[in-house]
Amino acid sequence: MDLGLRGKRAIVTGATKGIGRGVVELLVAEGVNVAFCARTPEEVAQAVEAVKRPDVEVFGEAVNVRDGEAYKAWLERAATALGGCDIFIPGVSGGGGMDSEKNWVRNFEIDMLHTVRGCEALMPHLEKSGSGSIVIIGSTNAVETFAAPMAYNAIKAGLITYSKQLSQYVGKKAVRVNTVSPGPIYFEGGAWEMIKGTQAKFFDSIMKQIPCGRMGTVEEIARIIVFIASPASSLVTGANIVADNGFTKRVQL
Ligand SMILES: NC(=O)c1ccc[n+]([C@@H]2O[C@H](COP(=O)([O-])OP(=O)(O)OC[C@H]3O[C@@H](n4cnc5c(N)ncnc54)[C@H](OP(=O)(O)O)[C@@H]3O)[C@@H](O)[C@H]2O)c1
Repeated sequence: MDLGLRGKRAIVTGATKGIGRGVVELLVAEGVNVAFCARTPEEVAQAVEAVKRPDVEVFGEAVNVRDGEAYKAWLERAATALGGCDIFIPGVSGGGGMDSEKNWVRNFEIDMLHTVRGCEALMPHLEKSGSGSIVIIGSTNAVETFAAPMAYNAIKAGLITYSKQLSQYVGKKAVRVNTVSPGPIYFEGGAWEMIKGTQAKFFDSIMKQIPCGRMGTVEEIARIIVFIASPASSLVTGANIVADNGFTKRVQL
């Protein structure tokens, strides 16, 4: 199947490691010109070297998406470097934790505001595209009770609502907006590897809830995100795609 991605221009936040990195690697393999960021300059430079190919543009720069002005300036530089933007995938999250107000402010400023700022700043480019596509990264933590009441869970839920409502608002401009909500994704250096080492009982309890007994891989979830971002998913907008290997138990009517 041709995903219709060759020559498109994608901007991805948080992509030197984990899911974002997997998404960038797949996009480049599909012939997409890509811009991405993370905070650590050496890791951004290494990632650019690792993923670049002669036939696509790869633009990477270090920026902290929590810094609104620096982030918006980076988005503009990224869109200029690519000559526009067809696909936006805001992947950065402030992560979990129950450190009271600190977490609420952090998750609001990072998960929510960086997504909203990105969608607003890039919308003129996405509208010009004719096949604009935004894929927001949610979480199964938003759709079922998970571990403890955390800002991460509630703000991911807010992103799903934002994604749906934005999809209705910009649909007439041929811009699709979807959320992909991964279940646990295991990779070296990722949160679940850390949890396995530090909270073995909790990790085992999560594993028991996954019917086939394994967490997802970066490549598995990246394939779904890239498919939903692509013109091959032209009928899908306003959806929250839960991709969790059966981790959640609700009936999704
Ligand atoms: N892993 C899972 O099981 C899972 C499950 C459900 C949903 N998700 C969601 O999927 C997304 C990616 O998760 P992940 O586990 O792959 O993340 P990760 O391993 O923590 O990767 C995060 C990436 O974002 C960059 N980053 C972090 N904070 C940043 C900031 N303030 N500004 C710019 N870049 C920043 C990191 O590089 P620097 O540290 O150098 O900045 C890194 O490249 C998140 O939205 C997460 O909530 C993950």
